Amino acid sequence: MLSKLLTSNRLEPYGINFPVCLAPMVGLTHVALRLVIRDYMPLNARVPWPTEMLNSRRLPNEKVGFTAETFRGEQETFLMPQILGNEEKAIYESVKKLEAWGAQGIDINMGCPVQKALRHNYGVALMGDSQYAAGVVKMATQSTTLPVSVKLRAAGTNGDFSYLLNFVQGLRQSGASWICLHPRTAEQKRRGSADWSQIKALREAVDFPIIGNGDIQTAQDVYNMKEQTGCDLVMSGRGLAARPWMLWQLGEDLGFEMPEHLKHREAPRTQEEEGAEYGRCLFKFVDLCEKYFGEDLGLRKIRYYIRTTAVWLQFGHTLGSISTKSKTIEELKISLEVFFRSPQIMFEYTELRQ
Ligand SMILES: Cc1cc2nc3c(=O)[nH]c(=O)nc-3n(C[C@H](O)[C@H](O)[C@H](O)COP(=O)(O)O)c2cc1C
Repeated sequence: MLSKLLTSNRLEPYGINFPVCLAPMVGLTHVALRLVIRDYMPLNARVPWPTEMLNSRRLPNEKVGFTAETFRGEQETFLMPQILGNEEKAIYESVKKLEAWGAQGIDINMGCPVQKALRHNYGVALMGDSQYAAGVVKMATQSTTLPVSVKLRAAGTNGDFSYLLNFVQGLRQSGASWICLHPRTAEQKRRGSADWSQIKALREAVDFPIIGNGDIQTAQDVYNMKEQTGCDLVMSGRGLAARPWMLWQLGEDLGFEMPEHLKHREAPRTQEEEGAEYGRCLFKFVDLCEKYFGEDLGLRKIRYYIRTTAVWLQFGHTLGSISTKSKTIEELKISLEVFFRSPQIMFEYTELRQ
């Protein structure tokens, strides 16, 4: 079963050979988190890596590579930034800038449910009009030879699968290389559970690659989604942010060679081992936030990360209040030292509410 996870992959022509990748998340999938997670990537494993959502109306006037959202590590390969937009000129200029920055693909957001995106008629609003959405994909595919993907919510479909199918086929005809489906409605935002049966139905209905997303908290969930939906790649957001070593656990299971710094020990599996590993990741994350974002922004990003991910920890609320009370990164580091001196328990599952 495990080898099947790797071989039945329509994404292999793109060099993708690992079962899980990180989901784009505003405020989280910046360089610091990506570098922490990448540290657990097996040596020859390859998946695309997201940025935070980037607004194509702003990108043309920004110094890409020098903003908090577009900082990147030198060692970061296969970056596939996510753009939001619906205007030809802005998309063209954004794509050109991102190509120069080193993008190896472009992802288009058709899932953002915030009011502003709805007002501007992009994000999930694009899902209300198949032809219009297909036109947006065309704007991107005409601007580049890189793969263009689309990340969408099963929204605006009112559970109407034939609408979703027709919508996705339109995106494919406009040149989308693959589609990622997060099967929650716009109204659900991030609450409720993702309906994996829609991923399975879509996978079975088309012959191009489908990425499945929603509610992946553990390595076991990756296997479960693969098995239950047949999707070509699993995408994890909050779960992988909280448990970056999921990549190590999977790499170990699948027989990948791990990088030198992980060779001398085994992937954490117990609640205590995972609690300790969370601490190691957090210290690394704090240092990287300080390095890339400086004191004020760095501290805000650390607090946000803790707020999103500490829910898996038994005493996550304590960690949360430590981070809000600390006035500086230095003060926070001292408190974290004390907190992680006691063994911490990390649960496999939590209610995903953020
Ligand atoms: C804090 C946060 C920010 C998000 N920002 C984006 C975004 O910018 N673009 C996007 O396509 N999805 C965004 N999402 C949705 C995630 O990519 C993902 O679809 C969702 O969290 C479900 O996956 P998960 O259950 O593995 O977290 C965001 C989710 C969270 C929690």
